Amino acid sequence: MSLSQADQSTNRPRYSEWIRSSNNITQQFMAIGGQSDVVSLAGGLPASELYPVEAIKQASIRALDRWGSTALEYGPVEGFPALRAAIAERMSREHRHRFGIENILLTTGAMQGLDLIGKVLIDPGDLIVAQFPTYLGALDAWRTRRPSYRKLDWNLDDPDLLGSLPRAKFVYTVPNYSNPTGALVPQNARGGLLSRVIVANTWLVEDDPYLPLQLTGAAGPSILAADAATRPEGQYDGPVIYLGTLSKSVVPGLRVGWVVAEPKVIQLLALAKQCSDLSSSMFSQAVALEFLDSGIESEIIPRIVACYRERRDALCASAEALLNEWFEWDVPPGGMFLWMRAKSPALDTNHLYSFALQEKVAFVPSSVFDPDGALTNAMRLNFTRNVPDRLEEGVRRLRRAVERYLSS
Ligand SMILES: Cc1ncc(COP(=O)(O)O)c(C=O)c1O
Repeated sequence: MSLSQADQSTNRPRYSEWIRSSNNITQQFMAIGGQSDVVSLAGGLPASELYPVEAIKQASIRALDRWGSTALEYGPVEGFPALRAAIAERMSREHRHRFGIENILLTTGAMQGLDLIGKVLIDPGDLIVAQFPTYLGALDAWRTRRPSYRKLDWNLDDPDLLGSLPRAKFVYTVPNYSNPTGALVPQNARGGLLSRVIVANTWLVEDDPYLPLQLTGAAGPSILAADAATRPEGQYDGPVIYLGTLSKSVVPGLRVGWVVAEPKVIQLLALAKQCSDLSSSMFSQAVALEFLDSGIESEIIPRIVACYRERRDALCASAEALLNEWFEWDVPPGGMFLWMRAKSPALDTNHLYSFALQEKVAFVPSSVFDPDGALTNAMRLNFTRNVPDRLEEGVRRLRRAVERYLSS
């Protein structure tokens, strides 16, 4: 629902201007996910039955035993130092470069990282070159800053793109198993983008929540790793601003995420964070530290990956049997989503959506992943939250919705 008509029933001062271009789609999808009679293929939620509840309980006890009242304090804006050091270590291991603690800011989920980047880099009218289609949460996070967008479709030699880059505040990309498309950006495209960003002397925001969810094959090096490899060890000072999170490999409820960037950017993001929440929950950070120290993450990730692979395959098989008359898709090599493109440009998923809700199935229409709202003939289906039988039932309902929509 668009809030553009957010009419005010009183004559009190007007709400801020950005609300006119906003929507509450994420809240709607969260609410639909809670309705047991609806098969929700809409949200981007992990399989909650795989959450390591007992291990988190033990980590919570250890956090309080070890850190006592410190775990219940306000914390340093930049994050709990012991977890910051552990994340610096993790980033150094995963991205094959020694990152210092000065390169790390702990955040309340990667979502806060996106919000802080907006506060530090975007002034009204500034240009963002964003991978297209674009993660809805990033569009939401930056809406208050009122940027303009140039869509990145990976045609890296397009003169218009090359002309845009030097004017852009930053480039935004989710190269590993993008939200919404599940696509893996090939290494040559990553390298091509990085070299153009360096020539244009701008920033590159690499949002990487799905790195742990490698379902078929490996993701390969991040753009951060490629850039860091060209720089001296120690304090990273390149143009990549990298976002990580524990939401997909542990649990989203801890709300532990982080930013890796050059120290000056980390300081400025911390300044923005100070005005936002003073510090992330120290308790969550202490629990996350104890949990990571236990090493259990490396046991649970293979289980998560095996489960999601089975669910992805189940959703693809049902779609093949029931939807392939009207839609096409690529099997995503990782992540959480299947991106279904309508074969006919006339099939409008905004309209299909209301028929789907009547059939008690939900998906995310493509328009919300377009800064202009103009992409109307695709949809995002999530495969991680439901068991295979329920996915199949969701696709059956979706087929009925398509049939009713087309005959309407
Ligand atoms: C691309 C992308 N970035 C960021 C986030 C936010 O993650 P977090 O739960 O860490 O805030 C998500 C969540 O689904 C996402 O898909």
